[in-house]
Amino acid sequence: MMLSKLLFVIQLCTLWWGILPATNATYIPKGGYPGGKGGGGGKGGHSAQPNFTFDEMWKMQTKFWDAFMYPNNVAEAKSINSSLLAPNVLGRVDVTRTFDGPELNTEYLFGLFATLALNPGATTLLGYPVSYEIVHFAASQNIASASTIIMFNLTSVARLVPIEIDTWNMWNAQGQVVEYDATFRWFQFFFDNFLGLAMPLLGTTTPQQTITILQPLIATGICRTHTEYCTGENQQYDNATDCFNFLSAKTRFGTAYELGRDTLLCRMVHENMIPYRPEVHCPHIGPSGGGMCVDDTTYSQKVLEPYFTHAPFVPYGYASKNATIAAM
Ligand SMILES: *[C@@H]1O[C@H](CO)[C@@H](O)[C@H](O)[C@H]1NC(C)=O
Ligand SMILES: *[C@@H]1O[C@H](CO)[C@@H](O)[C@H](O)[C@H]1NC(C)=O
Ligand SMILES: *[C@@H]1O[C@H](CO)[C@@H](O)[C@H](O)[C@H]1NC(C)=O
Ligand SMILES: *[C@@H]1O[C@H](CO)[C@@H](O)[C@H](O)[C@H]1NC(C)=O
Ligand SMILES: *[C@@H]1O[C@H](CO)[C@@H](O)[C@H](O)[C@H]1NC(C)=O
Repeated sequence: MMLSKLLFVIQLCTLWWGILPATNATYIPKGGYPGGKGGGGGKGGHSAQPNFTFDEMWKMQTKFWDAFMYPNNVAEAKSINSSLLAPNVLGRVDVTRTFDGPELNTEYLFGLFATLALNPGATTLLGYPVSYEIVHFAASQNIASASTIIMFNLTSVARLVPIEIDTWNMWNAQGQVVEYDATFRWFQFFFDNFLGLAMPLLGTTTPQQTITILQPLIATGICRTHTEYCTGENQQYDNATDCFNFLSAKTRFGTAYELGRDTLLCRMVHENMIPYRPEVHCPHIGPSGGGMCVDDTTYSQKVLEPYFTHAPFVPYGYASKNATIAAM
């Protein structure tokens, strides 16, 4: 039912935008970027959004995942502002948080996993992406929804493990991602599965015991990064002991949905972006969490956050007329 309705919408949107514009094109859609200030439902800047064909969106989706894979992600991270991302890109990942702008998103989408790939000896729950298959895909106008199974190389437990990532992507006229919303499907199951894989390696028999052993190991790695990169004005801890004491005992390990909260797991994520911009990322591994590893939202605030202010993730005319709801 949903799919046939979507296909109908796609058929309506046959406006052909020709060859995908080069990524360095300077064309700006009439009225600027979609939505702009208001970004509400149905009217104004919203109608300035481009219409792509299904095939164009499939290609943009695969181009993105190709760049996400190691070793392509290393080159993408080096570009500093990925040409796949719009200058005003807004991104959200359910297990972490929101990320604004091309530089931060380049670091987070590509740099983070490039660092993990280049440091296979680190103790971490994370891995790096080596291959993918798109298993669900629907697209209309300039919005696509995809479910992609990505094989991650989890070097800490020497396993390749699949993770399914559900994404909503919206592209601007230049074919750059202007908004994305990603969900790590079954992530609690992944988290528990990771602990299960670590148990025989650590000689533990319960998840809690495993976490008790992992916490100081992960803390040691983060403190090593701190000592190496977070110097001068970027220093967060007085010394290595202070760092270790805080991360091993004064902050909680965290659970599957807390990679953007005041936890060790959050600092384990952000540690990987420090080499790119210590001045931006060092505070995230510090005691304050630097606005990234903080308990700043309740559950309901997270669900109801009106983050996608450029344009609603709903085709023309169907979004709520209430701009706050349309941006959720
Ligand atoms: C895209 O298609 C929608 C729906 O048919 C239309 O309202 C809108 O004006 C089109 N956008 C452009 C830029 O042509
Ligand atoms: C990356 O984009 C930001 C704006 O988001 C800009 O300030 C910065 O100079 C750009 N860096 C490079 C290397 O292009
Ligand atoms: C996974 O990482 C390990 C450790 O770096 C490496 O030896 C192995 O070749 C990698 N496997 C794949 C499929 O990338
Ligand atoms: C490390 O920092 C802590 C906390 O500021 C301080 O109490 C301790 O004396 C310092 N240790 C050394 C060896 O400097
Ligand atoms: C729009 O929705 C928000 C969130 O539900 C609500 O707080 C606000 O009152 C609504 N505005 C109008 C004009 O109905």
